[in-house]
Amino acid sequence: MPGFRLRPATAADQALIVELVRAAHVNPMDLKWPNFVLAVDECNGQVAGLGQVKSHRDGSRELASIVTVPACQNQGVASRVVAHLLDQRPGVLYLTCRSGLGPFYERFGFREAPEAEQTPYFRRLARLARIFLFASRSDERLLVMRRDAPQA
Ligand SMILES: CC(C)(COP(=O)(O)OP(=O)(O)OC[C@H]1O[C@@H](n2cnc3c(N)ncnc32)[C@H](O)[C@@H]1OP(=O)(O)O)[C@@H](O)C(=O)NCCC(=O)NCCS
Repeated sequence: MPGFRLRPATAADQALIVELVRAAHVNPMDLKWPNFVLAVDECNGQVAGLGQVKSHRDGSRELASIVTVPACQNQGVASRVVAHLLDQRPGVLYLTCRSGLGPFYERFGFREAPEAEQTPYFRRLARLARIFLFASRSDERLLVMRRDAPQA
């Protein structure tokens, strides 16, 4: 079983971050390396997964760009990245995902956020996703999820 360690991204990782996020068909907007943490294979140093927290103009923050390269999936890489980002950035966080991934994020304390609890950024994104991404799919929808700040 290979080991993985986490490290902050550097400027040298920017091109790979964009490549991996695009290849995974995850939202390609706002991919700035200083916001990212990477999981790397301890044996060869190759990037196995990544994730970030984005800050939006309406003041909300979003856990985003959670991607594990296919060869490293189902080995706990994304779980490590998510747990680390939540540790580093306490406070209210949102995320969006397709509904099939809801149970994965529930493990970390995220719950579906009704529209009344969403910020303008997420209301707009959910509206666009309904029109452009999920209009033809009855099996999946976009979930907006929220995690409240852990109680001290
Ligand atoms: C979703 C993803 C990040 C999971 O990464 P991972 O490193 O394999 O995840 P972990 O090993 O930490 O956890 C595995 C869990 O992920 C969940 N999961 C993985 N792929 C899933 C899928 N296609 N549908 C639903 N749940 C899935 C399962 O709950 C699984 O739980 P299990 O261990 O009980 O089977 C990875 O499959 C991926 O990169 N997918 C493509 C990009 C993507 O959709 N990213 C999420 C954006 S919101």
